Amino acid sequence: MFQRGQRAQPDAPAPTAGTIRLRIRRCDPDRDPEPHWETYQAPRQPGDRLLDALHHVKWYVDGSLSFRRSCAHGVCGSDAMRVNGVNRLACKVLLKDLGDEVIVEPIQGLPLAKDLIVDMEPFFASYRAVMPYLITAGHEPTRERLQSPEQRDRYDDTTKCILCAACTGSCPVYWVDGRYVGPATIVNAHRFIFDSRDTAAGERLEILKGRDGVFRCRTTFNCTDACPRGIQVTQAIIEVRRAIASAQI
Ligand code: SF4
Ligand code: FES
Repeated sequence: MFQRGQRAQPDAPAPTAGTIRLRIRRCDPDRDPEPHWETYQAPRQPGDRLLDALHHVKWYVDGSLSFRRSCAHGVCGSDAMRVNGVNRLACKVLLKDLGDEVIVEPIQGLPLAKDLIVDMEPFFASYRAVMPYLITAGHEPTRERLQSPEQRDRYDDTTKCILCAACTGSCPVYWVDGRYVGPATIVNAHRFIFDSRDTAAGERLEILKGRDGVFRCRTTFNCTDACPRGIQVTQAIIEVRRAIASAQI
């Protein structure tokens, strides 16, 4: 008999045609002086994603494994992690594309909370600093603010960001100096800088031309390669640089 709030532990699925080995970097900073590696086996069904294998470990093998996830469909951005050396979303990467052994680590550059979970607060503090929302001046309009398809297209790519931090967590400049605003912040500033309805582009550019802004980028393209939404992150950074250089927005 289960008490209210208690959940039944389902039986582990029967072994399937294939399995995959997960080598996961584990660390509880409150207890472990150093990170260590744990190895687990998980079933591999056609169509399974890394998130399915992590769920198998957590639900049937070792409930102490910690990782963040929510939507499981590439929308919420909560399960970015380093997979075989590249930042990916666990819910988007297919096991069939990963070989027989997968190395799973937390993304780099942000403080470790536990296992595969990092503290996202420095990431969001930087994001908030560029005012990632529409700012308008003058009287409230009596009808919606109109925008042509061309004006909308100008920033369409950077509207796709889901704030997963895969880009910022793959940036070597950010790894060595977390004061750099990082690519995700620039992407989200870009989204409003080039919005014809917004009136605060100058303020954002003023922030981004500073010491820790866009000119820290070394165009390694790690961010573009890591982005699960296919955003041209490096291109966005270059466009913001050009806007600063020309002071034309
Ligand atoms: S730009 Fe791409 S990788 Fe970076 S936070 Fe947004 S969705 Fe994630
Ligand atoms: S769990 Fe939401 S993006 Fe992967």
